[in-house]
Amino acid sequence: MLTSTSLVWLLLALAAAVALLPAAWRRLELSRAKHPSIAGHAKLSRRIAAQVPFVSYDEHKFFACDGAPDEIVAQRRIAFDRLAAASRQRTPASVAFTAEIEHGLSDVLFTDTYRIPFQFREHVRRHLKIGSVVAESRGTQLRDLDGNWSYDLSGSYGVNLFGYDFYKSCIAAGAARVADLGPVLGPYHPLIRDNVARIKAISGLDEVSFHMSGTEAVMQAVRLAQFHTRRQRVVLFCGAYHGWWDGVQPGLGNRRKINDVYTLTEMSERTLHVLATRNDIACVLVNPLQALHPNSPAPGDTSLIDGGRAAAFDRAAYAEWLRELRQVCTERGIVLIFDEVFLGFRLARGGAQEYFGVRADLVTYGKTLGGGLPIGVLCGTREYMKRFRDDRPTDGCFARGTFNSHPYVMATMNEFLLRLDSPEIRATYVDLDARWNERARALNARLAAAGAPVRVANMVSVWTVLYDRPSRYNWMFQYYLRAEGLALSWVGTGRLILSHNYSDADYAEVVERFVHAAEKMLRDGWWWTPAGATNKSVRRTILRELVRARFGGGRRDAQATTGTAVTERP
Ligand SMILES: Cc1ncc(COP(=O)(O)O)c(C=O)c1O
Repeated sequence: MLTSTSLVWLLLALAAAVALLPAAWRRLELSRAKHPSIAGHAKLSRRIAAQVPFVSYDEHKFFACDGAPDEIVAQRRIAFDRLAAASRQRTPASVAFTAEIEHGLSDVLFTDTYRIPFQFREHVRRHLKIGSVVAESRGTQLRDLDGNWSYDLSGSYGVNLFGYDFYKSCIAAGAARVADLGPVLGPYHPLIRDNVARIKAISGLDEVSFHMSGTEAVMQAVRLAQFHTRRQRVVLFCGAYHGWWDGVQPGLGNRRKINDVYTLTEMSERTLHVLATRNDIACVLVNPLQALHPNSPAPGDTSLIDGGRAAAFDRAAYAEWLRELRQVCTERGIVLIFDEVFLGFRLARGGAQEYFGVRADLVTYGKTLGGGLPIGVLCGTREYMKRFRDDRPTDGCFARGTFNSHPYVMATMNEFLLRLDSPEIRATYVDLDARWNERARALNARLAAAGAPVRVANMVSVWTVLYDRPSRYNWMFQYYLRAEGLALSWVGTGRLILSHNYSDADYAEVVERFVHAAEKMLRDGWWWTPAGATNKSVRRTILRELVRARFGGGRRDAQATTGTAVTERP
């Protein structure tokens, strides 16, 4: 029998449970709006990443990790040696120079280490070296230290939209215009006024602030959103990159505890519901590049462990999603931020806002807008750009930066903006989708005709290479492309960025080289796959290897004769 005291406790507990129910329910809804992949769970992904052991394939397993028969393994070995010898012969000075700077320039060691899945890294770094230095650009090509010209598919991380000669001319003309002032900071060069006017017109927003990188522009956008809404939470979408400030990088690569970011599923009703029902969300950040691969991180060859890379761009579906986001953000007083640092000016002269027909409250630009020099730009409505409150003079949103509005950058930007209005550049925007879709289609048709299990997906001129076979060796394709004189960035075939000055003739040459590379790789046996293999079975095998290496009792000899050995690093 219940005593009266226990009855009181029971009632109190019941009342507490009822009171907590709405909060628990909202928490559950938030969890359900997360993407089910590991990338959708920032904290978990960090924890898992910290446990992944280093595994390095020995010489035999490097060629036979998929259980290929001896004749295929022999074919691969010969091909690998041939590629390595060709690279040594073709680029001795570039490779030697890169090796020399690698141990003083942290970035070089980092990028060279993360080009391919880590199991293959040691063998490739030892034998198949590539250079990371170039001496000249011209048209759509780059020249390395050995005098080789390659077609550039790296796009300088997206900066190179109109061709390197365009930016060289912006820099030269810009520098001449501000030479009298020089590097004076604090007061502005008068040409800043024209930049502000032009960017306001392009973005359709009231105010502009200049920063030194896209990362900083994003940082300021988020800070302003938090300041004006007096709310703390920031919504990002799974996989989206917004620069390397830890406030928008809650997952891998950052050890700081991030408690104010919700990483939610893009193009999801559940996300819209969370935005419509919570009261703590300051802003939603959108990187429109995600339209090419919603909810997946930027594809790089370091994670190309099988053929599971997916991408498909649906302009109408993404535009609809942005309209829905716009509506819920307006209704709930949430600041909608378009991060156009990467794509700004590539999809349309007026950027993603124009291309998708949706307006944001704050927009960040960067990369190409600097006319070839470093830049980050934030534009926004007057309401959101203000950095102080009239009625609370000590409550502000601080933003500075020594080199903000540097005269040389402002002048180079002005040259960019002036040229943007020229008939030649305006002409590059005509039929943009049709032109680039046709180019991608033509390449895919040639690849299919060659029987190569590889094709490209594109969002205008940003491409990613997709693989039709669940091969462990798809990452090798980047070396075949390079050998054909196609320059890639360190993320390899995950992201190809073509500049809009590619003529049909230049492009036709790229297609020839691309197809040759695929044909050679096919002939060399790398795309042999065991009967019945699937991407899932490949991932399961890798997982088993990692678990064995992590918990299987320490170090195994890489030279073991079983051919299945792994080396474990603590
Ligand atoms: C969408 C987006 N936002 C922000 C950034 C960061 O810009 P930055 O590298 O200039 O700091 C990048 C860089 O790639 C980006 O793609």
